[in-house]
Amino acid sequence: MTDSNVDRGKRRFLVATTSVMGGVAGVAVAVPFVMSMTPSARARAAGAPVEQDISKIEPGMMITVEWRGKPVWIIHRTPEMLASLPKIDSEVADPKSSVKQQPDYARNETRSIKPEYLVLVGICTHLGCSPSQKLAAGRDEGMGNDWPGGFFCPCHGSKFDLAGRVFKGVPAPINLEVPPYAFLSDTRLIIGSDAKGA
Ligand code: FES
Repeated sequence: MTDSNVDRGKRRFLVATTSVMGGVAGVAVAVPFVMSMTPSARARAAGAPVEQDISKIEPGMMITVEWRGKPVWIIHRTPEMLASLPKIDSEVADPKSSVKQQPDYARNETRSIKPEYLVLVGICTHLGCSPSQKLAAGRDEGMGNDWPGGFFCPCHGSKFDLAGRVFKGVPAPINLEVPPYAFLSDTRLIIGSDAKGA
């Protein structure tokens, strides 16, 4: 290695060291304010809205995102799933969503803005367990032969349909919650904020 190469190497090291030290100094000053969370994590924990690309959710599938520390499910319902809803109105406790467990714009048969997309807080309304997804209709081990598709809470046996409506005769008293949300585009949702920016 020539002298000039060595000098260049030293310079690079010094520059790198200075940058790191500068970074450390900045972090040290900021620690009392930063605590242990990144800004985005702090904002999420405080309830900031969460944006989500929904273009990759195939029909019949769902994803879970986190909002305010809670699981929020986004389910892409098929036409068959939607067709099952009115057929079980007599089996669910609050078929018309009279209990305010959803924004007004989701108080309808599908409990959603666009019928094909259901958005729910994935927390059981009995004692707060997280229900399992039992989306497929038909024979389901544990749910019997005529399961219309939905969600099952293993803690005490509550059942919810594919609109998050609670079945009659289970411990959970009310439907699953629909959080405020809005479509930013055909493929992008914002959760925690509705069209009015609430
Ligand atoms: S917490 Fe879900 S049934 Fe009790």
